[in-house]
Amino acid sequence: MDKQFSKPMFHGKELEDKVIVVTGGGSGLGKAMAAYFMQLGARVVITSRNLDKLKSTAAEMEDQTGGKVLPVACDVRDYEQVEAMLQQTVETYGSVNGLLNNAAGNFISPTERLSAHAFDTIIDIVLKGSKNCTLAFGKYWIEKKMPATVLNIVTTYAFTGSAFVVPSATAKAGVLAMTRSLAVEWAKYNIRMNAIAPGPFPTKGAWDRLLPGDLKEKFDISKKVPLRRVGEHQELANLAAYLMSDFSAYINGEVVTIDGGEWLQGAGEFNMLEQIPSQLWDMLEAMIRSKK
Ligand code: HXC
Ligand code: NAP
Repeated sequence: MDKQFSKPMFHGKELEDKVIVVTGGGSGLGKAMAAYFMQLGARVVITSRNLDKLKSTAAEMEDQTGGKVLPVACDVRDYEQVEAMLQQTVETYGSVNGLLNNAAGNFISPTERLSAHAFDTIIDIVLKGSKNCTLAFGKYWIEKKMPATVLNIVTTYAFTGSAFVVPSATAKAGVLAMTRSLAVEWAKYNIRMNAIAPGPFPTKGAWDRLLPGDLKEKFDISKKVPLRRVGEHQELANLAAYLMSDFSAYINGEVVTIDGGEWLQGAGEFNMLEQIPSQLWDMLEAMIRSKK
């Protein structure tokens, strides 16, 4: 198969007028999206809690793309750190007009095993962190009368819910509600709000916490996906670049699912019939017809 989906979709400077902050941009999917934004001419800021890690990632990204990236330490749970990160961004680049809320915390656990603090930790990173960044940046844009775009990374269980990752599901559902609410309220300021709901895109950060040890072999996640594969980072980066760019100017308040059909496979009442061998269908049809 020609894997067109694993190649860059844009090839020019489609994001050259953008200054984009990517929270959690030092690893995994945030790093892949930030690097592609740079390749398309955006000036980028990557943030997380670990400045050393961010600095080495930034050097690697600049080498790879020839673009410009500023690494800034910022714990998104702390509003003052978010305001300081915004200020450092504006001091460096003169302004900012894109925010990708990507930072997250998550791990699998039966909910009754969680301490109140453990539950809060996930809510604080995912929901409060996205709120902190959106509020600080939104106030700035509204005051400066600047058009801007916010993109929130949720996941499909923001709308389906999921056992064993309940704090994350609760928080991502909140982020989705915020996306849809502010898409309407802030449209008058020319601020667009959208979300992406990825299915499985293997990263070290997620897989070490969601499929530790031999769970990766025990549960072959690609079998949960009708297209029988996991996502590739570039295809997510392609979608993010489109939603960040002005090509998507009329898309507002949308959540775009990119999961190969995974959540629907789990949802449809009779989807388990996929397991029926094709040669059995003649017999089944005859049985059904005989009931007339
Ligand atoms: C139960 C746990 C735990 C575990 C931590 N805690 N790990 N409880 N089971 N496995 C508890 C701690 O005991 C503590 O509670 C509280 O959680 C906070 O833990 P800390 O280690 O102090 O927190 P912190 O250093 O802030 O680290 C946050 C973290 C960590 C979430 C626990 O894993 C992290 O830094 N994660 C960032 C990256 C990440 O998670 N990436 C994956 C995103 S994947 P007590 O009561 O003891 O003080 C994702 C995918 C979604 O979102 C969809 C996939 C399809
Ligand atoms: P990841 O590499 O672990 O990314 C999470 C990032 O968030 C890390 O860079 C982490 O950096 C940062 N972070 C965590 N806590 C933070 C805090 N308090 N303040 C600032 N930054 C913080 O995992 P990933 O798989 O790439 O996940 C990226 C996003 O995609 C997340 O929103 C996740 O929910 C979503 N997602 C992933 C998948 C998947 O299959 N991978 C599927 C659906 C959705 P530090 O720890 O260094 O701070």
